[in-house]
Amino acid sequence: MTSIRIAAPDDWHVHLRDDDMLSAVAPFTADAFRYALVMPNLVPPITTTAMAQSYRERIIAAAGPNARADFTPLMGLYLNDDLVIDDLLAGVDAGVVFAVKYYPAGATTNSEAGGSSLIGYQAVLEAMAEAAIPLLVHAESTDPDIDIFDREAAFLEAQLAPACDAVPGLTVTVEHISTRAGLEFVAAHEGFAGSITPHHLTCDRSDILANGLRPDLYCKPVINSREERDALAAAAMSGDPSFFIGTDSAPHPLSHKETGRAKAGIFNAPYALEVVAELFHQHDSLDRLEGFLSLNGPRHYGLPVAESTITLTREEPTDPPPEIVTTGDGVDVRIFGADAAALWTIS
Ligand code: DOR
Ligand code: ZN
Repeated sequence: MTSIRIAAPDDWHVHLRDDDMLSAVAPFTADAFRYALVMPNLVPPITTTAMAQSYRERIIAAAGPNARADFTPLMGLYLNDDLVIDDLLAGVDAGVVFAVKYYPAGATTNSEAGGSSLIGYQAVLEAMAEAAIPLLVHAESTDPDIDIFDREAAFLEAQLAPACDAVPGLTVTVEHISTRAGLEFVAAHEGFAGSITPHHLTCDRSDILANGLRPDLYCKPVINSREERDALAAAAMSGDPSFFIGTDSAPHPLSHKETGRAKAGIFNAPYALEVVAELFHQHDSLDRLEGFLSLNGPRHYGLPVAESTITLTREEPTDPPPEIVTTGDGVDVRIFGADAAALWTIS
């Protein structure tokens, strides 16, 4: 038996949706994580402080009876032409808004309302730099001429680098880093950080494609090669404080995944901690687990580390835990990470 106690973890990137889906998935996040940095890609997107405030209340109402006492949603606003600088600044001042998320239009689920050029929002970015508001970036080119596995690098070079040069002092998180290009970009920029998902840490594209097509492993940015996966895992386990967990837990109805055109997104919130713990265990790196799950994120965002702790214990495999959760209106959603969850208990 192996057991480790760490400060309570945070999820620096999560999709909680709304309505019955929110009610079904929010308790998993609220049970496992202290802070949850909630993505604004609803339809319509969360672009104002008033929308963020009301969404935050719906999340807290959906968190359920087992929610951690310190569970706290942090709200992101969606960067597009509807975002008004004064409203953003007021929302941050009021403690309602925490960050701004940029989606390239068409890159992923519910990104249709996103931007076509990051630097096109220079005035917003300047206000954010001045007020130290974090910019969260979905770093993925939408250029159809660029191979899908090369689109992170292409976006960083063509969009994020020029924006960061034009607006010094931005606090940037490259979200769900999927390649070495993302790791290197963060390393090259003082004060930048990168979130990494449990699935990009533990899967490669052969897992999606080699033994029957796995729509449950389809997400954006797409899971890349074995080399990229290993580089991400090495960065996460290195102790480098620039990297921390963002689950990118993104539930979709099974009927939208196992169909002609699968939606991008992996629902991993229920077993995310177990998946990451098992990876670190397999690499004799459990001494670095707390940094990745619980210390590096708060440090980047200037927030206190949790006072509460959790204990993760690895024992003989139990019966496999559930792989499906069903919403109140009868929609099934597949859960990622059951194999790891059978090995670990968390209290
Ligand atoms: O795979 C993804 N799903 N990537 C994203 O960036 C969005 C997410 C979603 O909202 O489903
Ligand atoms: Zn996401």
